Amino acid sequence: MNKILIAGGAGFIGSHLSRYFLGLMSEVWVIDNLVTGSRTNVADLDNNPNFHFVEADIADYDYSALPQFDIVYDLASPASPILFEKIPLEILKTNSFGLMKLLDFVKKSHSKTMVFASTSEVYGDPQVSPQPENYFGNVNSYGPRACYDEGKRFAEATIYSYISKYDLDIRIARIFNTYGPNMNKADGRVISNFINQALENKPLTVYGDGTQTRSCCYVSDMVHGFYLLGTKENLKGNVINLGNPDERTIVDIAKLIKKLVKSDSKISFLPIGEDDPKRRCPDITKARQLLDWSPKINLESGLEKTISYFKSL
Ligand SMILES: NC(=O)c1ccc[n+]([C@@H]2O[C@H](COP(=O)([O-])OP(=O)(O)OC[C@H]3O[C@@H](n4cnc5c(N)ncnc54)[C@H](O)[C@@H]3O)[C@@H](O)[C@H]2O)c1
Repeated sequence: MNKILIAGGAGFIGSHLSRYFLGLMSEVWVIDNLVTGSRTNVADLDNNPNFHFVEADIADYDYSALPQFDIVYDLASPASPILFEKIPLEILKTNSFGLMKLLDFVKKSHSKTMVFASTSEVYGDPQVSPQPENYFGNVNSYGPRACYDEGKRFAEATIYSYISKYDLDIRIARIFNTYGPNMNKADGRVISNFINQALENKPLTVYGDGTQTRSCCYVSDMVHGFYLLGTKENLKGNVINLGNPDERTIVDIAKLIKKLVKSDSKISFLPIGEDDPKRRCPDITKARQLLDWSPKINLESGLEKTISYFKSL
């Protein structure tokens, strides 16, 4: 039986990944401090004898009691723009000290493989689109988004150095906007915002003129990509974009959600945040070639599933 450790496993993507591996009869350990995740995201797993939940901060935890793992996934990090202002130091600490403690554990326990959840935000406000992995990015190191963007860039640099110094098998996923059930309703991400505003017949808040683009990946596609990235052989040191290349303007996403919810909400335009990226679209050539992966769920059907989830809350 495979042993899988998922840091951040009570969060949005992590809870789906936990469920996926349990479905494959793996033993799943989750470490989560619940700063943005929730126990209810994994409550249905508690009766599964192969599921172990540890409430702890990855930066402060004593890992000595944990076994060796086949795969260690690190998804622990707040990711919502609202939190960049509220808990910037926690975000920086998690992506630096937290990651280093986890890397030291991987090294000491001789765990086989590690996968780190990085982000398309390492490309900043990109000057090339779609963004390939070899694009270095256009990132402001001194601004309101820097705690997250530079936190993840620091994390990638740390991983590079651990691989070269200790020869660890670590892979990096650069995740583009992902959505689906278990998203936190209040975390200010575009899809959850629009759906909940539409369901409550409130105005859909578009920042800027809405011509900026996003490419949204349904969570089951993302989880399958994560599974492949963790389980395929010979991927040590690879950095791979995971996301859906179906690029849409924010205003088109708002209109689509309004239509699917059958909502009378208006669309209101507010000032855009500092350093908000104008284009977001993954080049997934590498994921297609190395993982034989591409997203299967189109935006309309993914949104239908997500709307049903938010309606059920
Ligand atoms: N969802 C997206 O669109 C997206 C896009 C790019 C990157 N990512 C990355 O994917 C990962 C998961 O994102 P998500 O959307 O599921 O976010 P999320 O906030 O739902 O999940 C993160 C989880 O990590 C936990 N956590 C945070 N700091 C921790 C710490 N110090 N110790 C232990 N647990 C901690 C949180 O409580 C939460 O359960 C994050 O690393 C994020 O940066 C997500």
